[in-house]
Amino acid sequence: MKILIIGSGGREYSIGLAINKENAGHELFYMPGNGATSDFATNIEKMDYNELAAWAKANEIELTIVGPEAPLVDGIVDIFKSEGLTIFGPSKEAAQLEGSKVYMKNFLKKYNIPTARYIETDSIEDAYKFIDSMEKTPIVVKADGLCAGKGVIIAQSKDEAKKSVGEMLSGKAFGEAGKRVIVEEFLDGYELSMFAICDGEDYILLPAAQDHKRLLDGDKGPNTGGMGAYAPTPLVNDEIYQKVKERIIRPTLDGMKKEGAPFEGVLFIGLMIVDGEPLTLEFNVRFGDPECEVLMPLMTSSVSDMFYKAATNRLGEIHVSFSDEYCVGVVMASKDYPYKSSAPAEIIVDEIHHEELKKHTHISYAGVSRDEDGKLLATGGRVLVCIGLGKSIKEARERAYLLCGQVHFAGKQFRTDIAYQAI
Ligand code: AMP
Ligand code: GLY
Repeated sequence: MKILIIGSGGREYSIGLAINKENAGHELFYMPGNGATSDFATNIEKMDYNELAAWAKANEIELTIVGPEAPLVDGIVDIFKSEGLTIFGPSKEAAQLEGSKVYMKNFLKKYNIPTARYIETDSIEDAYKFIDSMEKTPIVVKADGLCAGKGVIIAQSKDEAKKSVGEMLSGKAFGEAGKRVIVEEFLDGYELSMFAICDGEDYILLPAAQDHKRLLDGDKGPNTGGMGAYAPTPLVNDEIYQKVKERIIRPTLDGMKKEGAPFEGVLFIGLMIVDGEPLTLEFNVRFGDPECEVLMPLMTSSVSDMFYKAATNRLGEIHVSFSDEYCVGVVMASKDYPYKSSAPAEIIVDEIHHEELKKHTHISYAGVSRDEDGKLLATGGRVLVCIGLGKSIKEARERAYLLCGQVHFAGKQFRTDIAYQAI
């Protein structure tokens, strides 16, 4: 198959790498890709979605896979489908599950899907009234629209919550994206990511993963896109999987159908487990990054076929299988991440002689590009992810960290405690 992947991060790299490893003769293209996707695929220039659809048609692309949320929220799937192209991802309408927190929360309420108690409003008086009525702090304040992961404030006091609401509603904090807000109760539990590959009707649930959003060890420092992940996590048992399926995924797929926006694509469920009960923190409509990088290597059945069957509403025809191993991914970020961009730095990866280590590790490249001489440079915030696989989380983690020791670039930073909650 000729396959086009949209995006340039470690998430997209890991999808392409998994498809490449199938050795099924697929031809891969990226728009725009990064300095390492060009090792196994053709990077094509940035173009707008209409131009891209025309390019995909002219080049007989048989499957397009969309990595990030922005093109989905912008309606790329609708454009490709109207041209008769096969594309994996939700429609613009269904992508509102991520694009608008108000849409998502109201959807959860309408279909009785467990989530934190909340109000959504554009009135400062109503928000204040709700805050005053709350029994406990912290209080969570969220901007409605996409804010590049910054639109959620965990306020430690009622005054701080009111201040955040004020800044959002006035447009000062996030512009238009903050002109409606959610105020909700704080859920105290442990956080997990689950991913369901959906075709509108059927779904396949992948092993649960755990991300590490804070920059520093011990979950300290500022929030980031994610500094490392592992899967499957032992923090989930069969009972929790069952509850997530029955109480969250099934009603979501049925509900979206009723809303006239059947959900196709990756349903990313951000969960908080409180006293053994899964509650929905958020939905995203794409893979998590770096969660994707630790899930792709665990798949033993065909990744390309799974996406193709999902995109053609035929998931019911296939059986997907996973390895019985564990996977740990440690993100290496550039010097000034997440505050500002850093100067490009050359990446050197020492040759690995140890056969075991070589066999059970690899790098998923993200913020990298090539200079004129073909040297690989760290040019993005999250530069790459060191991946280790093993029969236990401990073994996978040791291997991931051994690989980290082989990778060098000026200013590299990474957490040393990824998967600590599982060990
Ligand atoms: P969101 O973008 O909604 O997932 O929020 C970003 C992060 O804020 C989540 O990953 C959680 O760590 C935290 N968070 C969001 N909502 C809540 C909540 N109601 N209770 C506790 N933590 C929350
Ligand atoms: N790693 C969390 C995210 O991709 O949103």
